[in-house]
Parts: sequence; structure tokens; C-alpha cells
Amino acid sequence: MSAAGVGRRVLLGVNVDHVATLRQARGTTFPDPVEAARLALEAGADGITVHLREDRRHVQEHDVERLRSLPGCKLNLEMAATPAMVDFACAVAPDDVCIVPERRAELTTEGGLAVAGHEGVLSPLVGRLVASGVRVSLFIDPDPRQIEASRAVGAGVVELHTGRWCDASGATADAELAALRAGATAAASRGLVVNAGHGLTTTNVGPVALLPGMNELNIGHSIVARSVFVGIAGAVREMRRAIDRALEGA
Ligand code: PXP
Repeated sequence: MSAAGVGRRVLLGVNVDHVATLRQARGTTFPDPVEAARLALEAGADGITVHLREDRRHVQEHDVERLRSLPGCKLNLEMAATPAMVDFACAVAPDDVCIVPERRAELTTEGGLAVAGHEGVLSPLVGRLVASGVRVSLFIDPDPRQIEASRAVGAGVVELHTGRWCDASGATADAELAALRAGATAAASRGLVVNAGHGLTTTNVGPVALLPGMNELNIGHSIVARSVFVGIAGAVREMRRAIDRALEGA
């Protein structure tokens, strides 16, 4: 192992939204995302992420409340920047809130949050969350303007959107990874904690785990999809190994 990998650990946050997607598809009480979270934590996840969407298409309020009571669960709540969601988050008090862009018709989060230009809306919402003891992360593209604006509105964390890099190939992928590397460096140098996520799999997670100052990767779809075949614990262990292998090989 070279100096870059010595002693490094990158946290794994497991997003269990799509366990709830399966439950909502049939209007049943199973599968239970909280039980999936318990098993994921037992298998080595460092935290659990859920996105309480405005349309409640998968995770529901009661899931978030039950996750908050799950022993040993570091909870990251993804949500839109609305006063109603901030009210809910302040009442539930997750460890982290990650503010994401949200539009009703989208399949999932597309592109990062436009922080620059919306400081006037975001500053008071971030301020309320921080005052209630929640650490605030903003899900942004690795764009210097968004990074600077994130710091300016009072966020302590940025989550860099890896989706474009995951979807790219060849020279475009190289450029996207270079942008992520520059973004991670810029954010860390401004004192922001650097997380990343979206579209990560055991195959592509390595270069993202190795980005400068990387703290935590939030991964959902690929882990829940793999769990159909190997169980949630097996899928979490495979992802943990893929991250650790990248760090050991650095
Ligand atoms: N991080 C954020 C902010 C997200 O919105 C999502 C998707 O819900 C993820 C991470 C996880 O992405 P994926 O499900 O593709 O792993």
C-alpha cells in the first residue's frame, strides 16, 4: 500500500430507498427498509440514507422516525429545500441532512443543487437545521461556484454528484473524474467535509473512493439490486470490499 492509502477509511452510507420502492409497489408492509437498514449496519455499513421525497413514492415519514430509533444508526436524511421538510427534519433530528434538488417528474435526482444564485432561500433553511444540531450537506456538481456558495450558506458538508462520471466513457469520463478531483480538493481546502454518491457500483467505486479527502460514499440502487441475489448483508460486504480494495491498492 502506498502513502495515499495508508490508514484511510472511507465511510459507506447505504441508501435503502428502493427497499421501500418494492414495498410501495404492492401497498404491503414488506419488505421493511428499517429491517434492511439493521442488516446493512450489521454487515458493516457506517450509516443509512433515505430520501423522503415530496411525492412519498418510496420512503414514508414513519420509516424515517423508526430509523431514528434504530440503535447505532447514523441517519442521513435526503430532502428538498422546503420549509415543511426543514420542520420535519428538525423534529426527527437525523445526524445529517443532505439537501437535494427535487422535481416531481424525475426518476431520480438529476444534476446537483443550484446553490449559487439561491443563497437567499438556502441560508435560512440551512441555518435552522444547523441551529437544531443537524449537520447539513448539499448535493452539488463539482463546480467551483457551487462549492463556494455551499460554504457561504453555512453547509459543513458537500456531496459531490458522481452520476455524470458514472454514465460517461472514454475522454468524457476522464474529464468528469478530473472535475470531481478538482471539486474534492477545492471543497476540502475550504474546510468542507467531502462526500460523494449517485450511480456507484462495485465496478466503478474505486476512483471515487480515492478522491482527495473523501469521507463518505452514499450508495443505494446497486446495493439493493445486488441484494436480490446475495442478500442485503452480502451486497453491503461486497461494496465494503470494493472500497477497501481501492484504498489498499492506492
Ligand atoms: N446521494 C444522493 C444525494 C442521491 O440523491 C442518491 C440517489 O437517491 C444517491 C446518493 C444514491 O444513488 P444510487 O441509488 O444511484 O446509488
